[in-house]
Amino acid sequence: MENLKRLFENNRSIVAEVTQADPEYFARRAGKQEPHFLLIGCADSRVPIETLTGVAPGEMFVHRNIANQALSADINVLSVLQYAVEVLDVKHVMVCGHYQCGGVKAAMGDQSYGLVDYWLAGIRDTVRRHEFELRRISSDEERFKRVVELNVMRQVYNLSRTPVVQGAWSRGRRPLLHGLVYDIHDGLLKPLVLQVDGNDKARELLETPRASIGD
Ligand code: CO
Repeated sequence: MENLKRLFENNRSIVAEVTQADPEYFARRAGKQEPHFLLIGCADSRVPIETLTGVAPGEMFVHRNIANQALSADINVLSVLQYAVEVLDVKHVMVCGHYQCGGVKAAMGDQSYGLVDYWLAGIRDTVRRHEFELRRISSDEERFKRVVELNVMRQVYNLSRTPVVQGAWSRGRRPLLHGLVYDIHDGLLKPLVLQVDGNDKARELLETPRASIGD
């Protein structure tokens, strides 16, 4: 209960501080939201992207789940995407992964974690698809980081194939899709792929070094 109490106390003091500087801060945002960004991020508690990017309430539409998945059978993420693109008309859709992602780590090992194994099955598939490249990375830490990055690329690709994005692109060049990774060691966001605005660029997301003949 002590911990919960702290949340309410913090909330009151933050609101007091903000409204002292700008009395209409919350009232102005109550009427409508006009976000430019949709963020699909990991549920991990160490990844407070809104705080770290300094966006104000109303600027970023957010969906978070374990290991920042954009699965084509997930009605939740698809509904968020459709609402953001077709109703809110967001310009940027970002998938943001993070190093040390527990979901990605779980998908790289052999241990079973129950129901969440189904959720993470796509990451296992990504690991298999990129086995050639991953086997050549001798450091476990570096391989882990690479799978985090490949997972982000895969999810950006998944977004590109949704009817929502295909439909939007057929009408214009919006939304722009972006893949980012957040480094929880230093707090910095790193761009992996930016400005994916059509199917040609989307296809490049899945390219990976292949074995050459005689390799
Ligand atoms: Co994570």
